Amino acid sequence: QELQLKLEMLEKGGFDHFMLKEIYEQPRSIKDCMRGRIYPEEGKVQLGGIKEFAEKLKNIDRIIIVACGTSWHAGLVGEYLIEEYARIPVEVEYASEFRYRNPIITEKDVVIAISQSGETADTMAAIEMAKERGATIFGICNVAGASIPRLTHAGVYTHAGPEIGVASTKAFTAQVTVLTLMAFYMAQQKGTITTSKLIELLTELDHIPEKIQVALESNELIKEVAEKIKDSTNCLFLGRGSGFPVALEGALKLKEISYIHAEGYPAAEMKHGPIALIDEEMPVVFIATQNSSYEKVISNIQEVKARKGKVIAIVTQGDTEVKKMADYCIEIPDANEAFLPLIATIPLQLLSYHIAVMRGCNVDQPRNLAKSVTVE
Ligand code: AGP
Repeated sequence: QELQLKLEMLEKGGFDHFMLKEIYEQPRSIKDCMRGRIYPEEGKVQLGGIKEFAEKLKNIDRIIIVACGTSWHAGLVGEYLIEEYARIPVEVEYASEFRYRNPIITEKDVVIAISQSGETADTMAAIEMAKERGATIFGICNVAGASIPRLTHAGVYTHAGPEIGVASTKAFTAQVTVLTLMAFYMAQQKGTITTSKLIELLTELDHIPEKIQVALESNELIKEVAEKIKDSTNCLFLGRGSGFPVALEGALKLKEISYIHAEGYPAAEMKHGPIALIDEEMPVVFIATQNSSYEKVISNIQEVKARKGKVIAIVTQGDTEVKKMADYCIEIPDANEAFLPLIATIPLQLLSYHIAVMRGCNVDQPRNLAKSVTVE
């Protein structure tokens, strides 16, 4: 028994749970994911896994991303990045819905299937259908040699290392990293980005692991915030632009491990319904970093405060505006909007982790959930 316990502690690298260990591994896992793929001085991205399709990428009509759960959230971030930089239209689909529709797919479409485990039944079925209809299929997977990498025409591994916690953390940020690299790679092929812009972006991307390290240093503060909201029965997560998928991911993390009902919404949608839920009992987590939607998010925060909601804001280091309004502010380092999801996700992972621990939940193996969903 004692030996068993010691072994477990060793496996968790001294952390209380695999989830916490995996959250803290992210500066390293993202570095591993980028290794040998980015050349900041030259302004170049190399993705060996999809190299043979480099020419094809110049002439594709559309990208369809299929995935489930957290991987689907990564897909939403990918949509934002690919459309912004490569100017290719992107649709993001729940694999479980896509597979049962009669979607219009042509040979000029590329389907990107995202899956940590590489074994998700719905994602596999979506791939098979798109393949039969002639699309080129790329995979973004974490587990080498799993079923999905074997089904796809080409792919890019996330290299995040084994993820044991049922709640996906480091796999999500690695998926977002791969999608960022794919967006830049496609932009490079299509000529929609200049080399000097790529040099600038890749130089910053190269330093994102250090910024994630800084974000992790807010752990104690996040624990204090967790203490204040741990008894809530509901929680809203709001963001705009690429902050919206981050909000969705924050909400999913909280509900799956703490069993608090949580919803992620685009902040501007609040007035179309969810605003009715806001009272002094409702914590609202905002992604309120300084980027193109900053001013708009500030007015959304004012709307929540006017109705006495409790505001927890993820802000850029040195922010003063949001601090005047929010109940709690968690700072993250400033970064180009393209890289915001990679950093803003970190405090939300820690927040849900601490809340779940405080509520006595089984963080690594939440009830009713499995690490890979191999049934439909
Ligand atoms: C994430 O925290 C979840 N446990 C879940 O949504 C997961 O992302 C989903 O089941 C998809 O899994 P996959 O990435 O292995 O395909």
